[in-house]
Amino acid sequence: MSTTPPLEAEIARRRTFAIISHPDAGKTTLTEKLLLYGGAIHLAGSVKARRATRHATSDWMEMERERGISITTSVLQFEWQGHHLNLLDTPGHNDFSEDTYRTLAAADSVIMLLDAAKGVEPQTIKLFQVCRMRGLPIVTFINKLDRASQDPLDLLDEIEKVLGIPTTPVNWPIGSGPDFLGVYERWGGTLMRYERGESGRKATAEALPLDAPELIEALGPRAHAQLVEELELLEGASLPWNREDYLAGKLSPVFFGSAMNDFGVEPFLNRFLELAPSPRPRSAAQGSIDPAQPALTGFVFKIQANMDPSHRDRIAFVRLCSGRFERGMEVTHVRTGKPLKLNKPLQFMAQERTLVEVAYAGDILGLWDSGALRIGDSIAEGKPVEFEGIPRFSPEHFVRVALLDPMKRKQLKKGLDQLSEEGAVQVFYDPVRLEKDPVLGAVGLLQFDVIQYRLRVEYGADVSFVRLPYQYARWVEGPPFSESKFDDPGRTACLLDIEGRPLILFATEWHMARVIDQNKALTFIAAVQPGRKGAIV
Ligand code: G4P
Repeated sequence: MSTTPPLEAEIARRRTFAIISHPDAGKTTLTEKLLLYGGAIHLAGSVKARRATRHATSDWMEMERERGISITTSVLQFEWQGHHLNLLDTPGHNDFSEDTYRTLAAADSVIMLLDAAKGVEPQTIKLFQVCRMRGLPIVTFINKLDRASQDPLDLLDEIEKVLGIPTTPVNWPIGSGPDFLGVYERWGGTLMRYERGESGRKATAEALPLDAPELIEALGPRAHAQLVEELELLEGASLPWNREDYLAGKLSPVFFGSAMNDFGVEPFLNRFLELAPSPRPRSAAQGSIDPAQPALTGFVFKIQANMDPSHRDRIAFVRLCSGRFERGMEVTHVRTGKPLKLNKPLQFMAQERTLVEVAYAGDILGLWDSGALRIGDSIAEGKPVEFEGIPRFSPEHFVRVALLDPMKRKQLKKGLDQLSEEGAVQVFYDPVRLEKDPVLGAVGLLQFDVIQYRLRVEYGADVSFVRLPYQYARWVEGPPFSESKFDDPGRTACLLDIEGRPLILFATEWHMARVIDQNKALTFIAAVQPGRKGAIV
């Protein structure tokens, strides 16, 4: 008799999710605690150590370590309470929002992490908007209750007003900072006391009805009275729990806790597993693809070259959308129609890689890629299935590349080709002036620093950049036009992207509005699908 677990059961126990937050809200700390529960790392409270060495478990690149910011995305897998979790780590910095967007395409749900003192911060807003565009369900964790915090009702109000999503608190904090006594779980009627002391220790929870004398005794009459009053207020002020609304991204359950002190993290993780969806059907050109259909399908959401500098390799990250994977199986690379043998797919845990023998819908595979795969490409076993692509957004910053050693032109070209395929930067050429040096476009300025560094370290091409005075760009479609028509240095310029699509650059919003107004026959587009014809926005 076969001992293979049924496909449905394997899919049902999977949770593929990402954590979004403003830098410093505690994402690294929370990630480490979650991994610790899953037994994926064995050292708790290592944020301090990380800060000292500038090295996080989920950071790869030297530059990330130097700067202490998370640039690339890693995928971390762990098991907890019979569940298989795939945690997609997203860059915390806004300059890498394109990377975040691509990563969120692979997630089924999201944890939004807020700092209890700072509430909703600028980066939270931007990342939240991406989740909203993708209709992702969002669970909120409000962190750092051990420090002086904003009033919890005000925090909920802020989430609703600024982000436009109603909330329903699952637990409720009792005091904050030096007066923080713990949290009371509304859903289970449980008190979890906060005991000061050594961090890394797990807190214990007791089931106590709100009017239990032990609860009054534990909190003291004043704090107890305040808790009762606030919970009553909440009954009127917050929405009742509704799973459909949560799954549609229209209601966020909220948890309070402290990641650093490991307070509330375990109950949070348990609830999260109950709430968060397992892989759901995904839309493709051929219709909705059910994760439990036996044929394997998936799409590439990220490409990363030189992840391991000693190997000089290129890895394409594939989110599996349906079926069961077994090492050695053959699929079709849908865009080219060519067969693709999945011989050595990898899973990642920071720098550690392991070969994958079996995987299921919801899991992430790393495929060795010789350059055939692109972001947004689909793979399918049997009949071709083409998932919705991942858009590329129009850049907002532009530089012209100046190669410092003209003998390194080949290295520069190779580097730029690869980095643009990764989506790390966009590369353009000037059809009017026929300048040899390409123009780079980025959504965030820090991307240029990464590119300059990687060109030097990974490809041996030292470059400097000259900033160009443009802030807006649109791809253009419609009847043929002469590129020189838009050549007005300092105001507008026309470039070609690596797929030969024309893109107009504008110095100001005003110039853009004027050009669009004067060229009604043309369509101006803010985002395109790499490798595919036609506008998406
Ligand atoms: P990030 O990845 O979102 O950028 O945040 P990270 O986890 O690195 O945490 C940012 C800072 O917040 C760290 O302090 C971390 O220790 C602290 N922190 C995280 N969770 C909590 C919490 O629940 N309570 C309190 N009080 N602090 C928390 P740091 O001073 O930047 O570094 P360190 O010197 O503490 O290591």
